[in-house]
Amino acid sequence: MKRIGLLKVGRGLALRPRSWSQGLSSSGRLMLVCEPKVWRRQGRGVMSALRQAGFQAAFHLLPTGEGAKTWAAVSHLLSAMLKAGLGRDAGLVALGGGTVTDAAGFAAAIYMRGIPWVSMPTTLLGQVDGGIGGKTALDLPEGKNLAGAFHQPLAVVCDLDCLGSLPGRERVSGLAEALKCGLALDAGLWRFMRDHWVSLLLGEPAASRRVITRCAELKLAVVARDERETSGQREILNFGHTVGHALEAAAGLGPLRHGEAVILGMRAAVRLSRRHAGLDEASAAEIEDFLAGVQVPRLELREAKVLTALRRDKKARRGQRRFVLLRRVGWPVLKAVPEASVREAVRSILKELR
Ligand SMILES: NC(=O)c1ccc[n+]([C@@H]2O[C@H](COP(=O)([O-])OP(=O)(O)OC[C@H]3O[C@@H](n4cnc5c(N)ncnc54)[C@H](O)[C@@H]3O)[C@@H](O)[C@H]2O)c1
Ligand SMILES: [Zn+2]
Repeated sequence: MKRIGLLKVGRGLALRPRSWSQGLSSSGRLMLVCEPKVWRRQGRGVMSALRQAGFQAAFHLLPTGEGAKTWAAVSHLLSAMLKAGLGRDAGLVALGGGTVTDAAGFAAAIYMRGIPWVSMPTTLLGQVDGGIGGKTALDLPEGKNLAGAFHQPLAVVCDLDCLGSLPGRERVSGLAEALKCGLALDAGLWRFMRDHWVSLLLGEPAASRRVITRCAELKLAVVARDERETSGQREILNFGHTVGHALEAAAGLGPLRHGEAVILGMRAAVRLSRRHAGLDEASAAEIEDFLAGVQVPRLELREAKVLTALRRDKKARRGQRRFVLLRRVGWPVLKAVPEASVREAVRSILKELR
């Protein structure tokens, strides 16, 4: 199996570049890419650590949030790299949430036809999912992640110290993706998260480290088997995402964090798994109860809007929409599901959201 980059999870890693920068830049030149909030918290420190380690490092700030994932923002970044004198023998370090690693990773993929980069996610969502696996992307006016490239980072560096400043909702959003990994891929991870949920919400380091490491390993293993999403194996990582994406699209930018939508999407997927994939009643009830207890914002969404978003997604996949369902926890199956069952699952979730 193809080996995908170096994975490091631990405390204080961001400030120890010698442990993750091998092979990153033969010229010693680097661009550190960040956004203003992360720059103030971690960026300055990483910058001086890179300089102390002997790199000739410049930095560039992307806009915060999805604004980073635009042609305009990436174009500014590419020009800044030219201005800083970066050649093909230079490297890039992306320090920030999933938006920064997506946009900066994309810049690394296309700058001079590709230079090495290190992904250093600073949100929990980035550390368990977004910053891992080499999918880089921009948004188009027509939708999210519609342009991009596969470009594996040399290393993924998850510094647990970055997570201390993370707001509660961002933490829940990241934990949602970790729950997804557990439910779809590893029953042990699911049980651990269920039993240590409060510690995880509080960001307790030992529990967080265990979950982040396991999720990152699981994602890297799936990616190694299906790096470019050709064999369908990477689809498993979309557990909870079909309905989740539709809820996100229907809500518009703002009211729902991605992971919050995934929590709701997983609730729908568990109901469908009970009906169409043979998930036993006790497990379905246990997972449902747990997910129903995770805090997501109250929201009034129109059923028709969610169903339209689901239909659009199906059309984009040339009518081939298959749901990732659970035969058991850790045993995913891909299934086409009758329209009426999807509607029923969406309706029941929306009712409980109000
Ligand atoms: N490439 C992939 O495989 C993949 C997978 C999942 C998600 N994504 C993408 O990731 C993005 C979402 O990522 P995200 O949730 O990390 O969003 P984000 O990058 O917008 O970060 C969320 C918020 O947290 C703040 N933040 C970042 N680090 C912080 C820290 N250490 N302390 C305090 N605040 C901090 C940011 O300023 C921002 O306001 C989406 O664009 C999504 O499409 C990509
Ligand atoms: Zn996701």
